[in-house]
Amino acid sequence: MVIVLFVLLLYKELLAYFQTALLAFKVKGPKPLPFVGNALLINDSKKLEKIGSDCYEEYGPVFRAWISFIPTIFIYQPDHLQAVLGSSKQTDKNFLYSYMHNFIGEGLITNNGYKWLTHRKYIQSYFNINYLDRCVKTFSKHSKMLIKKLDNSDGLIKITNFVNDSVLNVLHEIVFGLQAEDEELKTKSPFRKGKLLVHERLTKPWMLFEFLYRLTSYGDMEITQKSKLQNFTKQVLENKKANRKVNREHSLLDIFIKISETHFDFTEEDIINEACTFMLAGQDSVSSAISFTLYFLAKYTEYQDRAREEVDEILDSCENNPKVSDLNDMKYLGCCIKEALRLCPSVPIIARKLSEKLVLDDITLPSGCNVFIAPYITHRLKHLYPNPEEYNPERFFSENGKSRHPYSFIPFSAGPRNCLGYKFAMLEMKTIISYLLRNYCIHLDQRSDKLNVLYRITLRAKGGIWIKLEKR
Ligand code: HEM
Ligand SMILES: *[C@@H]1O[C@H](CO)[C@@H](O)[C@H](O)[C@H]1NC(C)=O
Ligand SMILES: *[C@@H]1O[C@H](CO)[C@@H](O)[C@H](O)[C@H]1NC(C)=O
Ligand SMILES: *[C@@H]1O[C@H](CO)[C@@H](O)[C@H](O)[C@H]1NC(C)=O
Repeated sequence: MVIVLFVLLLYKELLAYFQTALLAFKVKGPKPLPFVGNALLINDSKKLEKIGSDCYEEYGPVFRAWISFIPTIFIYQPDHLQAVLGSSKQTDKNFLYSYMHNFIGEGLITNNGYKWLTHRKYIQSYFNINYLDRCVKTFSKHSKMLIKKLDNSDGLIKITNFVNDSVLNVLHEIVFGLQAEDEELKTKSPFRKGKLLVHERLTKPWMLFEFLYRLTSYGDMEITQKSKLQNFTKQVLENKKANRKVNREHSLLDIFIKISETHFDFTEEDIINEACTFMLAGQDSVSSAISFTLYFLAKYTEYQDRAREEVDEILDSCENNPKVSDLNDMKYLGCCIKEALRLCPSVPIIARKLSEKLVLDDITLPSGCNVFIAPYITHRLKHLYPNPEEYNPERFFSENGKSRHPYSFIPFSAGPRNCLGYKFAMLEMKTIISYLLRNYCIHLDQRSDKLNVLYRITLRAKGGIWIKLEKR
Protein backbone atom coordinates (compact mmCIF):
# COMPACT_ATOMS: atom_id res chain seq x y z
CA MET A 1 0.00 0.00 0.00
CA VAL A 2 2.72 2.44 1.03
CA ILE A 3 4.74 1.51 -2.04
CA VAL A 4 1.77 2.02 -4.35
CA LEU A 5 1.18 5.42 -2.82
CA PHE A 6 4.83 6.34 -3.18
CA VAL A 7 4.90 5.32 -6.82
CA LEU A 8 1.74 7.28 -7.51
CA LEU A 9 3.21 10.35 -5.84
CA LEU A 10 6.45 10.04 -7.73
CA TYR A 11 4.51 9.63 -10.96
CA LYS A 12 2.53 12.79 -10.22
CA GLU A 13 5.69 14.80 -9.48
CA LEU A 14 7.47 13.55 -12.59
CA LEU A 15 4.46 14.22 -14.78
CA ALA A 16 4.22 17.79 -13.44
CA TYR A 17 7.95 18.24 -14.02
CA PHE A 18 7.88 17.08 -17.64
CA GLN A 19 4.72 18.95 -18.48
CA THR A 20 6.15 22.18 -17.08
CA ALA A 21 9.49 21.58 -18.80
CA LEU A 22 7.68 21.03 -22.10
CA LEU A 23 5.85 24.31 -21.63
CA ALA A 24 9.09 26.06 -20.68
CA PHE A 25 10.61 25.03 -23.99
CA LYS A 26 7.63 26.49 -25.82
CA VAL A 27 7.24 29.94 -24.22
CA LYS A 28 9.83 32.68 -24.53
CA GLY A 29 12.11 33.86 -21.76
CA PRO A 30 15.59 35.20 -20.99
CA LYS A 31 18.45 33.14 -22.43
CA PRO A 32 19.48 30.38 -20.01
CA LEU A 33 23.09 29.29 -19.30
CA PRO A 34 24.12 25.64 -18.97
CA PHE A 35 23.57 24.14 -15.47
CA VAL A 36 22.47 27.33 -13.71
CA GLY A 37 19.76 28.33 -16.19
CA ASN A 38 18.65 31.89 -15.43
CA ALA A 39 19.51 31.76 -11.73
CA LEU A 40 22.50 34.10 -12.00
CA LEU A 41 20.16 36.94 -12.85
CA ILE A 42 19.52 37.44 -9.15
CA ASN A 43 23.13 38.59 -8.86
CA ASP A 44 22.65 41.21 -11.56
CA SER A 45 20.18 43.90 -10.49
CA LYS A 46 20.55 45.93 -13.66
CA LYS A 47 19.77 43.04 -16.00
CA LEU A 48 16.94 41.95 -13.74
CA GLU A 49 15.41 45.43 -13.84
CA LYS A 50 15.69 45.51 -17.61
CA ILE A 51 13.88 42.18 -17.96
CA GLY A 52 11.29 43.38 -15.46
CA SER A 53 10.60 46.53 -17.45
CA ASP A 54 10.67 45.01 -20.94
CA CYS A 55 9.33 41.48 -20.56
CA TYR A 56 5.79 42.31 -21.57
CA GLU A 57 6.94 43.67 -24.94
CA GLU A 58 9.65 41.04 -25.43
CA TYR A 59 8.06 37.81 -24.28
CA GLY A 60 4.33 38.49 -24.07
CA PRO A 61 2.03 37.94 -21.09
CA VAL A 62 4.02 35.04 -19.60
CA PHE A 63 7.67 33.99 -19.73
CA ARG A 64 9.70 31.06 -18.50
CA ALA A 65 12.85 31.02 -16.38
CA TRP A 66 15.02 28.07 -15.44
CA ILE A 67 16.38 27.84 -11.92
CA SER A 68 19.05 25.41 -12.98
CA PHE A 69 17.04 22.29 -13.87
CA ILE A 70 13.75 23.56 -12.44
CA PRO A 71 11.38 25.11 -14.97
CA THR A 72 9.26 28.03 -13.72
CA ILE A 73 6.66 30.27 -15.33
CA PHE A 74 6.33 34.00 -14.59
CA ILE A 75 2.93 35.66 -14.83
CA TYR A 76 2.17 39.33 -14.32
CA GLN A 77 -1.07 40.40 -15.99
CA PRO A 78 -3.67 41.38 -13.36
CA ASP A 79 -6.30 38.95 -14.72
CA HIS A 80 -3.74 36.12 -14.68
CA LEU A 81 -2.73 37.01 -11.14
CA GLN A 82 -6.34 36.96 -10.08
CA ALA A 83 -6.77 33.47 -11.56
CA VAL A 84 -3.99 32.22 -9.28
CA LEU A 85 -3.95 34.47 -6.18
CA GLY A 86 -7.71 34.94 -6.10
CA SER A 87 -8.48 31.24 -6.19
CA SER A 88 -9.05 29.34 -2.96
CA LYS A 89 -7.82 26.25 -4.80
CA GLN A 90 -4.40 27.64 -5.69
CA THR A 91 -3.00 28.34 -2.24
CA ASP A 92 0.02 26.00 -2.22
CA LYS A 93 3.48 27.51 -2.00
CA ASN A 94 6.29 25.96 -4.04
CA PHE A 95 9.84 24.71 -3.49
CA LEU A 96 11.25 28.19 -2.99
CA TYR A 97 9.66 28.45 0.45
CA SER A 98 11.30 25.32 1.79
CA TYR A 99 14.58 27.17 1.18
CA MET A 100 13.50 30.04 3.39
CA HIS A 101 12.63 28.30 6.63
CA ASN A 102 15.45 29.94 8.49
CA PHE A 103 14.21 33.26 7.28
CA ILE A 104 10.45 33.14 7.54
CA GLY A 105 9.88 30.15 9.78
CA GLU A 106 7.69 27.10 9.33
CA GLY A 107 4.42 28.83 10.02
CA LEU A 108 1.65 30.57 8.10
CA ILE A 109 3.84 31.79 5.27
CA THR A 110 5.28 28.41 4.35
CA ASN A 111 2.55 25.96 5.37
CA ASN A 112 -0.01 24.54 2.98
CA GLY A 113 -3.35 22.80 2.98
CA TYR A 114 -5.39 22.14 6.10
CA LYS A 115 -2.71 23.31 8.52
CA TRP A 116 -2.38 26.66 6.80
CA LEU A 117 -6.14 27.11 6.55
CA THR A 118 -6.87 26.37 10.22
CA HIS A 119 -3.96 28.42 11.55
CA ARG A 120 -4.92 31.34 9.37
CA LYS A 121 -8.48 31.19 10.70
CA TYR A 122 -7.39 30.96 14.34
CA ILE A 123 -4.87 33.80 14.14
CA GLN A 124 -6.72 36.16 11.83
CA SER A 125 -9.68 36.43 14.17
CA TYR A 126 -7.45 38.17 16.72
CA PHE A 127 -6.18 40.81 14.29
CA ASN A 128 -9.18 43.05 14.87
CA ILE A 129 -9.52 46.76 15.53
CA ASN A 130 -9.06 46.44 19.31
CA TYR A 131 -5.86 44.56 18.82
CA LEU A 132 -4.57 47.03 16.24
CA ASP A 133 -5.38 49.91 18.56
CA ARG A 134 -3.12 48.38 21.19
CA CYS A 135 -0.41 47.86 18.58
CA VAL A 136 -0.57 51.52 17.56
CA LYS A 137 0.31 52.50 21.16
CA THR A 138 3.43 50.40 20.84
CA PHE A 139 4.26 51.97 17.45
CA SER A 140 3.95 55.44 18.99
CA LYS A 141 6.12 54.58 21.95
CA HIS A 142 8.89 53.30 19.71
CA SER A 143 8.55 56.21 17.29
CA LYS A 144 9.15 58.57 20.20
CA MET A 145 12.21 56.59 21.21
CA LEU A 146 13.44 56.75 17.63
CA ILE A 147 13.08 60.54 17.56
CA LYS A 148 15.03 60.79 20.81
CA LYS A 149 17.83 58.72 19.32
CA LEU A 150 17.85 60.77 16.12
CA ASP A 151 17.91 64.03 18.09
CA ASN A 152 21.13 62.78 19.63
CA SER A 153 22.72 61.94 16.30
CA ASP A 154 24.54 64.49 14.17
CA GLY A 155 21.75 64.58 11.60
CA LEU A 156 23.61 62.88 8.77
CA ILE A 157 22.58 59.29 9.12
CA LYS A 158 22.00 55.99 7.45
CA ILE A 159 18.29 55.87 8.15
CA THR A 160 17.96 52.22 7.16
CA ASN A 161 19.76 51.12 10.33
CA PHE A 162 17.70 53.28 12.67
CA VAL A 163 14.41 52.19 11.12
CA ASN A 164 15.55 48.61 11.13
CA ASP A 165 16.25 48.80 14.82
CA SER A 166 12.93 50.41 15.74
CA VAL A 167 10.94 47.89 13.74
CA LEU A 168 12.72 45.06 15.47
CA ASN A 169 12.04 46.58 18.89
CA VAL A 170 8.37 46.89 18.01
CA LEU A 171 8.28 43.22 17.08
CA HIS A 172 10.00 42.07 20.25
CA GLU A 173 7.36 43.86 22.22
CA ILE A 174 4.36 42.83 20.13
CA VAL A 175 5.25 39.21 19.52
CA PHE A 176 7.04 38.34 22.77
CA GLY A 177 6.00 41.09 25.15
CA LEU A 178 9.66 41.97 25.68
CA GLN A 179 10.01 45.65 26.52
CA ALA A 180 12.64 47.84 24.93
CA GLU A 181 14.01 48.36 28.43
CA ASP A 182 14.85 44.66 28.58
CA GLU A 183 18.21 45.36 27.03
CA GLU A 184 19.67 42.10 28.19
CA LEU A 185 17.07 39.89 26.62
CA LYS A 186 17.08 41.83 23.43
CA THR A 187 20.79 41.82 22.90
CA LYS A 188 20.59 38.08 23.39
CA SER A 189 17.87 37.83 20.79
CA PRO A 190 18.97 35.87 17.72
CA PHE A 191 16.34 37.66 15.62
CA ARG A 192 18.84 40.47 15.11
CA LYS A 193 21.35 38.33 13.39
CA GLY A 194 19.43 36.42 10.73
CA LYS A 195 21.45 35.58 7.68
CA LEU A 196 19.72 34.94 4.44
CA LEU A 197 21.05 32.06 2.42
CA VAL A 198 18.42 31.39 -0.25
CA HIS A 199 20.39 33.55 -2.58
CA GLU A 200 23.45 31.32 -2.30
CA ARG A 201 21.33 28.26 -2.83
CA LEU A 202 19.60 29.44 -5.96
CA THR A 203 22.81 30.42 -7.72
CA LYS A 204 24.60 27.16 -6.88
CA PRO A 205 22.69 24.28 -8.49
CA TRP A 206 24.08 21.47 -6.31
CA MET A 207 22.75 23.25 -3.23
CA LEU A 208 19.22 22.79 -4.51
CA PHE A 209 19.45 19.22 -3.24
CA GLU A 210 18.64 19.18 0.44
CA PHE A 211 21.05 16.36 1.33
CA LEU A 212 23.99 18.05 -0.41
CA TYR A 213 23.10 21.46 1.00
CA ARG A 214 23.14 20.06 4.53
CA LEU A 215 26.73 18.99 4.02
CA THR A 216 27.90 22.51 3.18
CA SER A 217 28.88 25.22 5.65
CA TYR A 218 25.84 27.20 4.51
CA GLY A 219 23.51 24.35 5.42
CA ASP A 220 25.21 24.09 8.76
CA MET A 221 24.88 27.82 9.41
CA GLU A 222 21.21 27.72 8.50
CA ILE A 223 20.40 24.84 10.81
CA THR A 224 22.21 26.51 13.70
CA GLN A 225 20.45 29.81 13.05
CA LYS A 226 17.05 28.19 12.94
CA SER A 227 17.70 26.28 16.12
CA LYS A 228 18.75 29.52 17.86
CA LEU A 229 15.51 31.23 16.85
CA GLN A 230 13.46 28.31 18.09
CA ASN A 231 15.37 27.95 21.34
CA PHE A 232 15.00 31.62 22.12
CA THR A 233 11.29 31.53 21.36
CA LYS A 234 10.85 28.40 23.43
CA GLN A 235 12.51 30.02 26.39
CA VAL A 236 10.32 33.11 26.20
CA LEU A 237 7.29 30.85 25.88
CA GLU A 238 8.21 28.88 28.97
CA ASN A 239 8.70 32.07 30.98
CA LYS A 240 5.34 33.27 29.81
CA LYS A 241 3.53 30.10 30.69
CA ALA A 242 5.09 30.15 34.16
CA ASN A 243 4.10 33.76 34.87
CA ARG A 244 0.83 33.93 33.14
CA LYS A 245 -2.24 35.58 34.56
CA VAL A 246 -5.59 34.37 33.35
CA ASN A 247 -7.11 36.10 30.33
CA ARG A 248 -4.28 38.47 29.63
CA GLU A 249 -3.36 38.59 25.99
CA HIS A 250 -0.88 41.33 25.63
CA SER A 251 1.53 39.76 23.22
CA LEU A 252 1.01 37.55 20.21
CA LEU A 253 2.55 34.75 22.20
CA ASP A 254 -0.25 35.11 24.77
CA ILE A 255 -2.74 34.93 21.92
CA PHE A 256 -1.09 31.81 20.53
CA ILE A 257 -1.17 30.18 23.97
CA LYS A 258 -4.84 30.98 24.18
CA ILE A 259 -5.47 29.46 20.76
CA SER A 260 -3.65 26.30 21.79
CA GLU A 261 -5.89 25.99 24.83
CA THR A 262 -9.04 25.94 22.75
CA HIS A 263 -7.75 24.11 19.66
CA PHE A 264 -5.94 20.87 20.31
CA ASP A 265 -4.49 20.89 16.78
CA PHE A 266 -2.49 24.05 17.61
CA THR A 267 0.47 22.55 19.44
CA GLU A 268 3.41 24.01 21.33
CA GLU A 269 5.53 23.44 18.25
CA ASP A 270 3.01 25.44 16.24
CA ILE A 271 3.18 28.30 18.75
CA ILE A 272 6.94 28.46 18.36
CA ASN A 273 6.82 28.26 14.58
CA GLU A 274 4.16 30.93 14.24
CA ALA A 275 5.94 33.27 16.67
CA CYS A 276 9.13 32.93 14.60
CA THR A 277 7.14 33.51 11.41
CA PHE A 278 5.65 36.77 12.70
CA MET A 279 9.03 37.99 14.00
CA LEU A 280 10.51 37.49 10.57
CA ALA A 281 7.51 38.46 8.40
CA GLY A 282 7.21 41.86 10.05
CA GLN A 283 10.87 42.79 10.02
CA ASP A 284 12.63 43.51 6.72
CA SER A 285 9.37 43.93 4.81
CA VAL A 286 8.36 46.88 6.97
CA SER A 287 11.77 48.49 7.42
CA SER A 288 12.48 48.31 3.71
CA ALA A 289 9.13 49.93 2.85
CA ILE A 290 9.69 52.73 5.39
CA SER A 291 13.21 53.36 4.15
CA PHE A 292 12.18 53.49 0.48
CA THR A 293 9.28 55.83 1.27
CA LEU A 294 11.67 58.14 3.13
CA TYR A 295 14.01 58.01 0.15
CA PHE A 296 11.30 59.18 -2.24
CA LEU A 297 10.00 61.84 0.13
CA ALA A 298 13.53 63.15 0.62
CA LYS A 299 14.14 63.18 -3.10
CA TYR A 300 10.84 64.80 -4.09
CA THR A 301 10.30 67.41 -1.39
CA GLU A 302 7.03 68.74 -2.84
CA TYR A 303 5.42 65.43 -1.82
CA GLN A 304 7.15 65.55 1.54
CA ASP A 305 5.77 69.00 2.25
CA ARG A 306 2.27 67.96 1.33
CA ALA A 307 2.45 64.82 3.48
CA ARG A 308 3.76 66.88 6.41
CA GLU A 309 0.91 69.36 6.16
CA GLU A 310 -1.56 66.52 6.52
CA VAL A 311 0.38 64.93 9.38
CA ASP A 312 0.67 68.23 11.31
CA GLU A 313 -3.03 68.78 11.11
CA ILE A 314 -3.90 65.30 12.37
CA LEU A 315 -1.24 64.93 15.04
CA ASP A 316 -2.02 68.40 16.42
CA SER A 317 -5.52 67.30 17.21
CA CYS A 318 -4.51 64.13 19.04
CA GLU A 319 -1.47 65.45 20.92
CA ASN A 320 0.94 63.18 19.14
CA ASN A 321 -0.72 59.93 20.18
CA PRO A 322 -2.49 58.84 17.04
CA LYS A 323 -5.26 56.27 17.16
CA VAL A 324 -6.10 53.90 14.36
CA SER A 325 -8.69 56.35 13.03
CA ASP A 326 -6.14 59.21 12.94
CA LEU A 327 -3.70 57.09 10.99
CA ASN A 328 -6.47 56.01 8.61
CA ASP A 329 -7.10 59.71 7.99
CA MET A 330 -3.54 60.17 6.73
CA LYS A 331 -4.67 59.50 3.19
CA TYR A 332 -1.95 61.41 1.39
CA LEU A 333 0.80 59.73 3.39
CA GLY A 334 -0.91 56.45 2.54
CA CYS A 335 -0.60 57.26 -1.16
CA CYS A 336 3.10 58.12 -0.70
CA ILE A 337 3.71 54.73 0.94
CA LYS A 338 1.75 52.86 -1.72
CA GLU A 339 3.63 54.57 -4.51
CA ALA A 340 6.93 53.62 -2.83
CA LEU A 341 5.67 50.03 -2.56
CA ARG A 342 4.72 50.12 -6.22
CA LEU A 343 8.24 51.01 -7.33
CA CYS A 344 10.00 49.06 -4.58
CA PRO A 345 7.74 46.23 -3.44
CA SER A 346 9.38 44.88 -0.26
CA VAL A 347 8.58 41.32 -1.26
CA PRO A 348 9.78 41.06 -4.86
CA ILE A 349 8.56 37.54 -5.51
CA ILE A 350 5.53 35.44 -4.63
CA ALA A 351 5.42 31.82 -5.71
CA ARG A 352 2.86 29.09 -6.06
CA LYS A 353 2.69 25.48 -7.07
CA LEU A 354 -0.51 24.95 -9.01
CA SER A 355 -2.86 22.45 -7.39
CA GLU A 356 -4.79 22.04 -10.59
CA LYS A 357 -4.20 22.99 -14.20
CA LEU A 358 -4.91 26.55 -15.18
CA VAL A 359 -5.89 28.00 -18.55
CA LEU A 360 -4.63 31.53 -19.14
CA ASP A 361 -5.90 32.72 -22.50
CA ASP A 362 -4.18 30.42 -25.01
CA ILE A 363 -1.63 28.91 -22.59
CA THR A 364 -2.38 25.96 -20.30
CA LEU A 365 -0.27 25.68 -17.15
CA PRO A 366 -0.21 22.08 -15.91
CA SER A 367 -1.07 21.01 -12.39
CA GLY A 368 2.11 21.08 -10.26
CA CYS A 369 3.61 23.91 -12.32
CA ASN A 370 5.87 26.35 -10.44
CA VAL A 371 4.45 29.81 -10.94
CA PHE A 372 6.27 33.02 -10.01
CA ILE A 373 4.63 36.37 -9.53
CA ALA A 374 6.82 39.45 -9.45
CA PRO A 375 5.00 42.57 -8.18
CA TYR A 376 7.91 44.58 -9.59
CA ILE A 377 6.83 43.64 -13.13
CA THR A 378 3.09 44.12 -12.68
CA HIS A 379 3.71 47.48 -11.02
CA ARG A 380 5.58 48.70 -14.10
CA LEU A 381 3.19 47.69 -16.86
CA LYS A 382 2.83 50.82 -18.98
CA HIS A 383 -0.83 50.37 -19.70
CA LEU A 384 -1.57 50.30 -15.96
CA TYR A 385 0.92 52.91 -14.81
CA PRO A 386 1.85 55.36 -17.57
CA ASN A 387 5.42 56.58 -17.24
CA PRO A 388 6.07 53.78 -14.72
CA GLU A 389 9.49 54.88 -13.40
CA GLU A 390 8.13 58.20 -12.18
CA TYR A 391 7.30 58.50 -8.45
CA ASN A 392 3.88 60.07 -8.20
CA PRO A 393 1.64 59.44 -5.15
CA GLU A 394 -1.36 60.88 -7.00
CA ARG A 395 -1.70 57.62 -8.90
CA PHE A 396 -3.27 56.28 -5.72
CA PHE A 397 -5.83 59.04 -5.19
CA SER A 398 -9.07 57.13 -5.15
CA GLU A 399 -10.41 58.91 -8.25
CA ASN A 400 -7.27 57.96 -10.23
CA GLY A 401 -7.19 54.31 -9.26
CA LYS A 402 -10.82 53.49 -9.93
CA SER A 403 -10.31 52.12 -13.42
CA ARG A 404 -7.32 49.97 -12.49
CA HIS A 405 -7.78 46.24 -12.04
CA PRO A 406 -7.79 45.25 -8.32
CA TYR A 407 -4.85 42.89 -8.96
CA SER A 408 -2.69 45.61 -10.53
CA PHE A 409 -1.27 46.55 -7.10
CA ILE A 410 -0.07 43.54 -5.13
CA PRO A 411 2.74 44.46 -2.68
CA PHE A 412 0.85 42.52 0.00
CA SER A 413 -0.20 39.80 -2.43
CA ALA A 414 -3.97 39.41 -2.73
CA GLY A 415 -6.75 36.89 -2.28
CA PRO A 416 -7.05 34.25 0.45
CA ARG A 417 -3.27 34.09 1.07
CA ASN A 418 -2.65 37.80 1.17
CA CYS A 419 -0.51 39.39 3.86
CA LEU A 420 -2.13 38.83 7.22
CA GLY A 421 -0.23 41.81 8.61
CA TYR A 422 -1.34 44.25 5.91
CA LYS A 423 -3.27 46.63 8.15
CA PHE A 424 -0.76 46.24 10.95
CA ALA A 425 2.05 47.14 8.55
CA MET A 426 0.28 50.18 7.08
CA LEU A 427 -0.42 51.52 10.59
CA GLU A 428 3.15 50.90 11.71
CA MET A 429 4.63 52.59 8.63
CA LYS A 430 2.31 55.58 8.94
CA THR A 431 3.09 55.98 12.65
CA ILE A 432 6.85 55.93 12.25
CA ILE A 433 6.94 58.11 9.13
CA SER A 434 4.47 60.65 10.55
CA TYR A 435 6.62 61.12 13.66
CA LEU A 436 9.65 61.70 11.46
CA LEU A 437 7.85 64.23 9.26
CA ARG A 438 6.54 66.02 12.32
CA ASN A 439 10.00 66.40 13.79
CA TYR A 440 12.28 66.89 10.83
CA CYS A 441 12.68 68.18 7.33
CA ILE A 442 14.29 65.30 5.50
CA HIS A 443 16.96 65.87 2.87
CA LEU A 444 18.63 63.28 0.71
CA ASP A 445 22.38 62.96 1.08
CA GLN A 446 24.14 62.98 -2.28
CA ARG A 447 25.64 59.53 -1.77
CA SER A 448 22.12 58.08 -1.84
CA ASP A 449 20.90 60.24 -4.69
CA LYS A 450 20.72 57.30 -7.06
CA LEU A 451 18.90 54.28 -5.76
CA ASN A 452 20.62 50.94 -6.26
CA VAL A 453 18.30 48.14 -5.37
CA LEU A 454 19.31 44.63 -4.36
CA TYR A 455 16.77 41.92 -5.10
CA ARG A 456 16.77 39.53 -2.20
CA ILE A 457 13.84 37.86 -0.46
CA THR A 458 13.11 41.40 0.56
CA LEU A 459 14.26 44.38 -1.46
CA ARG A 460 17.00 46.54 -0.04
CA ALA A 461 18.95 49.62 -0.95
CA LYS A 462 22.57 48.86 -1.70
CA GLY A 463 24.70 50.75 0.83
CA GLY A 464 21.63 51.82 2.81
CA ILE A 465 19.87 55.16 2.49
CA TRP A 466 21.68 58.25 3.75
CA ILE A 467 19.66 61.30 4.71
CA LYS A 468 20.19 64.61 6.46
CA LEU A 469 17.72 65.57 9.15
CA GLU A 470 16.94 69.17 9.92
CA LYS A 471 15.08 69.67 13.20
CA ARG A 472 11.93 71.72 12.74
C1 HEM B 1 5.29 46.51 4.23
C2 HEM B 1 5.23 45.41 4.92
C3 HEM B 1 4.81 44.06 4.41
C4 HEM B 1 4.75 43.60 3.13
C5 HEM B 1 5.12 44.33 1.84
C6 HEM B 1 4.26 42.25 3.20
C7 HEM B 1 4.04 41.45 2.10
C8 HEM B 1 3.55 40.15 2.16
C9 HEM B 1 3.33 39.31 1.01
C10 HEM B 1 3.64 39.68 -0.44
C11 HEM B 1 2.85 38.14 1.46
C12 HEM B 1 2.49 36.91 0.62
C13 HEM B 1 3.69 36.02 0.57
C14 HEM B 1 3.50 34.84 -0.33
O1 HEM B 1 2.41 34.56 -0.83
O2 HEM B 1 4.52 34.17 -0.53
C15 HEM B 1 2.75 38.22 2.90
C16 HEM B 1 2.30 37.21 3.72
C17 HEM B 1 2.25 37.29 5.09
N1 HEM B 1 2.59 38.39 5.85
FE1 HEM B 1 3.22 40.18 5.18
N2 HEM B 1 4.05 41.92 4.50
C18 HEM B 1 4.37 42.99 5.28
C19 HEM B 1 4.28 43.08 6.66
C20 HEM B 1 3.83 42.09 7.47
C21 HEM B 1 3.69 42.21 8.91
C22 HEM B 1 4.03 43.45 9.73
C23 HEM B 1 3.25 41.00 9.36
C24 HEM B 1 2.92 40.56 10.77
C25 HEM B 1 2.54 41.32 11.72
C26 HEM B 1 3.07 40.14 8.21
C27 HEM B 1 2.62 38.85 8.27
C28 HEM B 1 2.40 38.04 7.17
C29 HEM B 1 1.91 36.67 7.27
C30 HEM B 1 1.58 35.91 8.54
C31 HEM B 1 1.81 36.20 5.95
C32 HEM B 1 1.36 34.81 5.50
C33 HEM B 1 -0.12 34.83 5.17
C34 HEM B 1 -0.63 33.49 4.68
O3 HEM B 1 0.04 32.81 3.91
O4 HEM B 1 -1.75 33.15 5.07
N3 HEM B 1 3.44 40.84 7.09
N4 HEM B 1 3.18 39.47 3.30
C1 LIG C 1 25.99 35.55 -6.34
O1 LIG C 1 26.05 36.39 -5.19
C2 LIG C 1 26.32 35.70 -3.98
C3 LIG C 1 26.24 36.64 -2.82
O2 LIG C 1 26.32 37.97 -3.17
C4 LIG C 1 27.67 35.01 -4.07
O3 LIG C 1 27.94 34.31 -2.88
C5 LIG C 1 27.64 34.05 -5.22
O4 LIG C 1 28.90 33.42 -5.35
C6 LIG C 1 27.30 34.78 -6.50
N1 LIG C 1 27.22 33.79 -7.55
C7 LIG C 1 27.89 33.90 -8.69
C8 LIG C 1 27.85 32.74 -9.58
O5 LIG C 1 28.51 34.91 -8.99
C1 LIG D 1 19.42 45.97 9.88
O1 LIG D 1 20.42 46.28 10.80
C2 LIG D 1 21.32 45.24 11.06
C3 LIG D 1 22.30 45.68 12.13
O2 LIG D 1 22.01 46.93 12.64
C4 LIG D 1 22.04 44.85 9.77
O3 LIG D 1 22.90 43.77 10.00
C5 LIG D 1 21.01 44.47 8.72
O4 LIG D 1 21.64 44.19 7.49
C6 LIG D 1 20.03 45.59 8.54
N1 LIG D 1 19.02 45.19 7.60
C7 LIG D 1 18.70 45.94 6.56
C8 LIG D 1 17.56 45.44 5.73
O5 LIG D 1 19.25 46.96 6.27
C1 LIG E 1 18.85 24.48 21.17
O1 LIG E 1 18.41 23.65 22.22
C2 LIG E 1 18.75 22.28 22.06
C3 LIG E 1 18.08 21.48 23.16
O2 LIG E 1 18.04 22.18 24.35
C4 LIG E 1 20.27 22.14 22.07
O3 LIG E 1 20.64 20.81 21.88
C5 LIG E 1 20.83 22.98 20.92
O4 LIG E 1 22.24 22.95 20.94
C6 LIG E 1 20.36 24.42 21.01
N1 LIG E 1 20.79 25.10 19.80
C7 LIG E 1 21.57 26.17 19.79
C8 LIG E 1 21.96 26.70 18.46
O5 LIG E 1 21.93 26.72 20.80
